Amino acid sequence: MTSGGDAAGMNPAVKAAVERARQLGMKPFVIYDGLEGLIDGKIKAATRDLTCEMSHRGGTLLRSSRSKRFFEYSYREQAYKHLKDNNIEHLVIAGGDGSFRALNDFFNDFQVPFAGIPATIDNDIAGTDYCLGVDTAQNIILNCIDTIRDTAQSHHRAFVIETMGRDCGYLAMTAAICSGADILVVPELPYDLESIKKRLQPQIEEGVGYVIAIVAEGTKKAQELTDWLSTNTGMDTRLTVLGHMQRGGAPSARDRLMGARFGTRAVEALHSGNINRIMVYHDGHHGECALDQVAGQKYHVSQSIIKLCEDMTR
Ligand code: F6P
Repeated sequence: MTSGGDAAGMNPAVKAAVERARQLGMKPFVIYDGLEGLIDGKIKAATRDLTCEMSHRGGTLLRSSRSKRFFEYSYREQAYKHLKDNNIEHLVIAGGDGSFRALNDFFNDFQVPFAGIPATIDNDIAGTDYCLGVDTAQNIILNCIDTIRDTAQSHHRAFVIETMGRDCGYLAMTAAICSGADILVVPELPYDLESIKKRLQPQIEEGVGYVIAIVAEGTKKAQELTDWLSTNTGMDTRLTVLGHMQRGGAPSARDRLMGARFGTRAVEALHSGNINRIMVYHDGHHGECALDQVAGQKYHVSQSIIKLCEDMTR
């Protein structure tokens, strides 16, 4: 099943998990609508005509949900009945750490082992350097920024572009580095308008007639910075909130590959009795983490990325 915000790469991960399960002699099922669907018994045997559509499709064909009900015991009990009725003994879930925690509660109640696959464009899950969906989102964001740069340059305008990421600035930081932005505002780095002013001065004096600023949604500073740029640069200024277009789109090659690896490993972990683990990618290697190293832990953007960004914030 897939859970939480959809992320490109979820479909390839499901396909890989289903196919590996078959190879290992298991009978794979899919659960639609995430944890909500598990409560409501939206369970079907996985068919080849579903999985053959999965390598190239964005979003999640199994659909997803953010379930509040699953945190109540009575609904988990209902979910367990559906699993029993279908003789389902293991679960694989692609989602965020809230989804992993939910399945851990479920394990404590009914001892159904699970494997977790990190999937969120926010890239904010502790223990892994990579979550499915990130590369695809980064590419979409970069295309948008490159496009906006053309119109910014044509009209001598300052553009503030807000990226998703919840409380994490990873998407904004990598977008700012890769697009050559002038200003970056993220939760992880100081926000100081005086420094931004000093930084922009030589650029404006040397005749660069436009400004590109990337702001992470978690800072809630996009509108404020837009107003400030308008007053302090004398430029016509626009704010573009990229919004949900960052979550859609066909998975990139990286997300397809990572999805295939995470999906395969999740099933193999369960098959070998290595239960309740989260698949991770760390320092260039695939591995697995215990839930308590992931859920409730804070994700830190790597120092090497932060260092590359410092100059855009001061
Ligand atoms: O967690 C993924 C994410 O896209 C965040 O970046 C964003 O803040 C949130 O989900 C948006 O949630 P929703 O799709 O429920 O509006």
